[in-house]
Amino acid sequence: MVAFSIISAFSMLSSLLLASLSHASPVPRPFLNSGLSLPSLDSKSWFCRLVHTTLAENLCLQEGSTALSVNTPLGVAQGTADVSGVNRFAVKYASAERWSPSSMVTAWALPNGSTNVSALPLMCPQPYVDNSTFTEDCLSMILYVPTTSDEDSDVPTLMWIHGGSFMVGSATNPGLDGSALALATNSIVAVIQYRLGALGFVAPNNQTNLGLKDAVNALEFLTAVLPSFGGDPRKITVAGQSSGANMIRALLAVPSAQSLFQSAILQSDPMDYGFLSSSDQAQLEEYFVSNLGCAATDSACLNALTADTIVNGAGLWQFNSSVYVVPAATQSEPMRVVNDGTFITSTLDSTSPFPRVSKPILLSNVVDEGGYTIYGSFPDPMPEAEYVAIINGSFGEIRYETLVSSQSYAVGTAQDDDYRPQLQVLATDSVWRCATWTFARNWVSNGGTAYVGVYTVGASYPGNAAVSFCTEPGVVCHQDDIEIVFGTAPNPTSAQSALITEMQARYKSFLYSGNPNPDESSYANWQAAGNSDVNAILFGSNGNAPIGACTPSFWGQSVAYDYQVFDI
Ligand SMILES: *[C@@H]1O[C@H](CO)[C@@H](O)[C@H](O)[C@H]1NC(C)=O
Ligand SMILES: *[C@@H]1O[C@H](CO)[C@@H](O)[C@H](O)[C@H]1NC(C)=O
Ligand SMILES: *[C@@H]1O[C@H](CO)[C@@H](O)[C@H](O)[C@H]1NC(C)=O
Ligand SMILES: *[C@@H]1O[C@H](CO)[C@@H](O)[C@H](O)[C@H]1NC(C)=O
Ligand SMILES: *[C@@H]1O[C@H](CO)[C@@H](O)[C@H](O)[C@H]1NC(C)=O
Ligand SMILES: *[C@@H]1O[C@H](CO)[C@@H](O)[C@H](O)[C@H]1NC(C)=O
Repeated sequence: MVAFSIISAFSMLSSLLLASLSHASPVPRPFLNSGLSLPSLDSKSWFCRLVHTTLAENLCLQEGSTALSVNTPLGVAQGTADVSGVNRFAVKYASAERWSPSSMVTAWALPNGSTNVSALPLMCPQPYVDNSTFTEDCLSMILYVPTTSDEDSDVPTLMWIHGGSFMVGSATNPGLDGSALALATNSIVAVIQYRLGALGFVAPNNQTNLGLKDAVNALEFLTAVLPSFGGDPRKITVAGQSSGANMIRALLAVPSAQSLFQSAILQSDPMDYGFLSSSDQAQLEEYFVSNLGCAATDSACLNALTADTIVNGAGLWQFNSSVYVVPAATQSEPMRVVNDGTFITSTLDSTSPFPRVSKPILLSNVVDEGGYTIYGSFPDPMPEAEYVAIINGSFGEIRYETLVSSQSYAVGTAQDDDYRPQLQVLATDSVWRCATWTFARNWVSNGGTAYVGVYTVGASYPGNAAVSFCTEPGVVCHQDDIEIVFGTAPNPTSAQSALITEMQARYKSFLYSGNPNPDESSYANWQAAGNSDVNAILFGSNGNAPIGACTPSFWGQSVAYDYQVFDI
């Protein structure tokens, strides 16, 4: 048992990320930032002319109707057209009893029994928000369908899984309006919700991976309905950021889900953490039940708890305390997916045999993943003594010795006696970047194709400006890639606009062909990773990312990742 990592430099990550997310508006930004003014929904004839190439019979149904209707095998889908060229459908894809696996809906329905086709879904229960903004009936998604797609068009689909430490977040988070991305990629974008926190990942009845199973149901739902919207169900790419990317990594480890998607995009996955083991999960469940005030088998008591009580009571306590119960829980993602051996059957890392794989994947990081955490936790310059104490406390003495004697993280080298820049690189490398590169090497060594990149231009995500480091020129903090990919950055600079255009062109190419190099484009060739050199391309700059400590022989060999230390 390891006796460290309790109070670590990275311990602030969760609370800071949560703080930033909880301040974020639950309503998506207006689309496109183009100042484009739209016809009112009742200008039906205008709208029907606009969509002349498309599902006109389906979309422009009855005289006087302001809503759109599409016939699907699950019944009539209703949506709205509030962005030129894109139709939006909010829909419930699955239902679930509390702490039971969900099942896909059998009939098309608006979220939470709503009758308002324009209304956005309520969030899944989570702390830090007013409880009128969430409901347990939250297994909904928002579909963004380009009007150019019709029943014969077979466009691809990108299914997006939001981040938020498996604890917070929703399909209506800032920047996640999929309209611009759907337009630019000529693809359907589906932004999904899944159960969070204890309701999704820590069940008194020992059910595991409920939130992940929700995502599989979302894929099943898409497979059933996409043809009605002009989507090819064989061309689904799953994509996500942060814990959403961790969800994607978990989907890659679920054999029964492999036929449901063709490729995957993982943005800023904290791959250092690994999945939880069943034995760690069992201890965490027991601890949760001990704080819940109900016996695990007392269904009357369990059902009488409000969602509010669970997420703000025992759920929040679990989030804050799990790492003291089971160090592998980590302080950032203490409630997460579990390698249960039946649904998830592999760790997808070096602690167990890596399966043969074949899907193409995109793996990206931002250049300063650790910036928010480190500069948010340490507002003042950091002297050497504090630097070494933090590394020793965070990584334990064995890893500490190797780290401080390494070239990348050595003592005696900091400018102006401020070790925060170096600690920031260490956080970025250990939790995200090098762990991601190790994953890329494993993926390609076992039959898959991986393309690796690093963002050097971003768009400051709402909340990140609370840490002034994240607003400095050239700094790209965790989450600052989101509004680039979605094309939702407000008032983009020319560098941001150029990168939005490039990334959306690369995503389009990847969604259509599995290769992120668009035909006949002038973009730099994004070379696939090899099993040693991952060829990480820089987004927003020229050339490839410096390798630094992310060599095959350093992280994962000389210095263990957390998933190796905890043997999970
Ligand atoms: C969600 O649906 C439930 C059940 O119909 C209802 O009681 C609740 O008011 C709804 N929530 C909101 C915010 O509309
Ligand atoms: C439907 O939802 C939209 C978006 O939230 C809102 O603006 C509108 O007022 C709602 N309409 C009704 C009738 O509640
Ligand atoms: C959950 O698992 C634990 C062992 O890890 C066991 O003691 C307990 O009875 C189980 N609970 C239920 C409700 O099955
Ligand atoms: C929301 O909070 C109020 C006040 O604490 C409580 O009465 C209500 O049951 C809560 N609603 C849900 C859905 O948890
Ligand atoms: C958990 O941590 C958060 C963030 O640090 C804090 O706001 C909250 O009060 C803590 N809650 C409990 C129950 O410890
Ligand atoms: C590292 O931490 C351990 C455990 O707290 C302590 O015994 C040791 O002296 C520390 N080493 C250094 C170099 O600070």
